[in-house]
Amino acid sequence: MKIIRIAVLTCFAASASAWAEDDIPALWKAKCESCHGADGKAQTKQGKKHKVDDMTNEKWQANWTDDKIKKIIREGSKDKKEMKAFPADKVSDSELDGLVKHIRSFKG
Ligand code: HEC
Repeated sequence: MKIIRIAVLTCFAASASAWAEDDIPALWKAKCESCHGADGKAQTKQGKKHKVDDMTNEKWQANWTDDKIKKIIREGSKDKKEMKAFPADKVSDSELDGLVKHIRSFKG
């Protein structure tokens, strides 16, 4: 009996572990969507409250280069504490690249 119980518990732990690596939409949903919205328009309660920019805007896309996007995700915003830093233990390098691509997909 004891062995079965351990097996069941182990199973649970494995399935409860975070999203599969590089599942960017899931990552966006879990860590970014509450402020930036599912579509990047920031039409959420938090997004409106903090006047977060609309990422689908063409000017926004032109102004925010890949490097700038990566920098603010890694370091956070100096002006608004809501946009906190996501260091490598929160967002891996490959996830960071994926997030940039995800943000580009909001364009247009
Ligand atoms: C609690 C709210 C919140 C969460 C969660 C959040 N952000 Fe932000 N984000 C902001 C705010 C507010 C700004 C505007 C910062 C400023 O004006 O300096 C911002 C700015 C940005 C910017 C710079 C572009 C701009 O319009 O200012 C990028 C890129 C960005 N966020 C990406 C992300 C990503 C990727 C995630 C998830 C890993 C995330 N954010 C999670 C609130 C949030």
